[in-house]
Amino acid sequence: MYSGIHADINGQPRNITMRIKQIAYTIIAILTLMQVKVMAQNMKTIDVNPDKLIAAIQLEMWGVFFEDINMGADGGIYAELIKNRSFEFYKPLMGWKHKGDKYQEGDLLVLNRKDSKEKNPRYLRVTSRGSKREDLNLTNEGFRGIGVKKGLTYDFSVFYKQRGPQVKIHVELIDSTGKVIGAGELNDLNNDNNWNKGSVSFKADETVLKAKFRMWFEGPGQIDLDMISLFPQDTWKNRKGGLRADMVQMLADMKPGFVRFPGGCIVEGHDLSTRYQWKKTVGPLEDRELVVNRWNTEFAHRLTPDYFQTFGLGFFEYFQMAEDIGAEALPILNCGMACQYNTAELVELDDLGPYIQDALDLIEFANGSIETPWGKVRADMGHPEPFHLKKLGIGNENWGPQYLERLALFTTALKAKHPEIKLVASSGTDPVGERFDLLNNALRKANTDIIDEHYYRSPKWFLENANRYDNYDRSGSKVFAGEYAAHSAGVTKGNKSNLECALAEAAFMTGLERNAAVVNMASYAPLFAHADGWQWTPDLIWVDNLNVYGTPSYYVQKLYSLNKGTNVISILADNKVISGQDSVYASAVVDQATKEMIVKVVNVSNEEKAYAINVQGGKKLAAKGLLTILNSANLDAENSFENAINITPKENKLSVKGNRIPLRLKPYSFTIVRVGLK
Ligand code: AHR
Repeated sequence: MYSGIHADINGQPRNITMRIKQIAYTIIAILTLMQVKVMAQNMKTIDVNPDKLIAAIQLEMWGVFFEDINMGADGGIYAELIKNRSFEFYKPLMGWKHKGDKYQEGDLLVLNRKDSKEKNPRYLRVTSRGSKREDLNLTNEGFRGIGVKKGLTYDFSVFYKQRGPQVKIHVELIDSTGKVIGAGELNDLNNDNNWNKGSVSFKADETVLKAKFRMWFEGPGQIDLDMISLFPQDTWKNRKGGLRADMVQMLADMKPGFVRFPGGCIVEGHDLSTRYQWKKTVGPLEDRELVVNRWNTEFAHRLTPDYFQTFGLGFFEYFQMAEDIGAEALPILNCGMACQYNTAELVELDDLGPYIQDALDLIEFANGSIETPWGKVRADMGHPEPFHLKKLGIGNENWGPQYLERLALFTTALKAKHPEIKLVASSGTDPVGERFDLLNNALRKANTDIIDEHYYRSPKWFLENANRYDNYDRSGSKVFAGEYAAHSAGVTKGNKSNLECALAEAAFMTGLERNAAVVNMASYAPLFAHADGWQWTPDLIWVDNLNVYGTPSYYVQKLYSLNKGTNVISILADNKVISGQDSVYASAVVDQATKEMIVKVVNVSNEEKAYAINVQGGKKLAAKGLLTILNSANLDAENSFENAINITPKENKLSVKGNRIPLRLKPYSFTIVRVGLK
């Protein structure tokens, strides 16, 4: 009724309203123009010159670091669902429970045949006295439960030996109420008193995050069991007994330049007996000798007594995975030293021969012809073609003169036989300090090919050190930023994988990219963490039994890798590298193959910034480009299983006029401008 006060006066009110509107629009337009003008005046200029190629970027520049920590391999990417499948854990029945009305003392026995099967000595002898599930059954809890998908087929297999009356094996998946959600039977088992392999596949009718596996026996009779195994069929490339496809896909999506494996501290072991020995991880699964995982008892706040390395993901599988995702394989070997935070055991220099031989044999395993002993092992495992190994790490995070002595022996032997293989050496645990200086100076003096630097530091440190490599010597050893992550709190104090950390890493990485002349490779660490089985935070990718999500840091890593380019180019503001002035960090590359310029800019402040990229040199920009932004108003923002895409990059088309690209850098943002060059 009162919506227009002049509504009833001869059509006049309409005109007056329109007039007011016109005036208002004019005022808004003038204000907008003034704002644009002010912004244009305040816009800072970033000068980029695609003609000024500063350094080539290595194909393998941005890679991934894989370690079996946080249940990354066993219970993680290695898709085996049965925990302690061969009864070799310290407690042979860890993960298993039995029940049964007809069970009598001695009906389940753990036997040891050490003399005939040294690497996998234990097995389980089952005496079955009944014919029903209730008479005797065995349940396996899986690694924090078993992830089961409705409609998916599961492959069960077992090594068995029986004599006398036949025992029939029933296998099933059950939910938390005990309801059967998938079942199979093993009939017609051999009765020949030899070890045989039996298998059966069956479909699941329901999706359950934490199911259990149960087997029961139709007797009477006695049967010996070993390597009790259950795999989903939807593995990576559908390989039998393979890797979790969703987890490998996360890596493949990053298009990493290399995969560093198998660690990390598990290379060193708690003591020398638990160090990583690659030869024990190849060949038939049942002969791969299990070792306790050194993260099992490392942190009192996250004890993981059921954490062992079964090596179903062994060196062959690591090489194969790297090859599958188009990455270079970068193995790291033990150098005759156990973890210096633990026992710090050393191999005497005179006894280092077998360790060095392991390194030489690894090169043969990876690259040797199938006529060579280790090349034949590779071929017998299904890969006659070489894996094209180019680099090898000697020692993980070792330090001190004792490391240098051992490294020197390795280097002499390896360079004599394989000068084509580049060696990666450790610079210890920290990026500064006496330990670092001792190693860094000695390694540079020895002209070591590549020096592995590690930094787990606060976001502030990453920002303050974004120019760390600006003055590094370009002519000598190259740098591998082999393990790094911004830590919001401390490994044992609830670190977060939040945007603040991711932006600090992105800012720091502008410095890595700008200095690609000396920094040849980089990888965030650690890679994977299981929500119910982790020891260390933050991590790049989180998983549970069925799901996977990337942290904001994952998207930063992925954006760098997918926007790697081929050559670093000059990018300056006020004639200076852009490394923290005005809370902004920037780097730029060109991709000579796709003929594009890629500019990366990080704004770590809570204010929007107005910048304009001014493209110098003789090249013209294409009219259309791509703008990718990772940002949030909340520095604490994280991704989660419930909201996996909370912080993910958003892409927008970019219209380009002339050689100037205006940019509004959002608060707390990582922005990538990608545009063609003519
Ligand atoms: O990435 C976690 C651990 O950090 C690695 O195992 C070790 O190399 C470093 O101390």
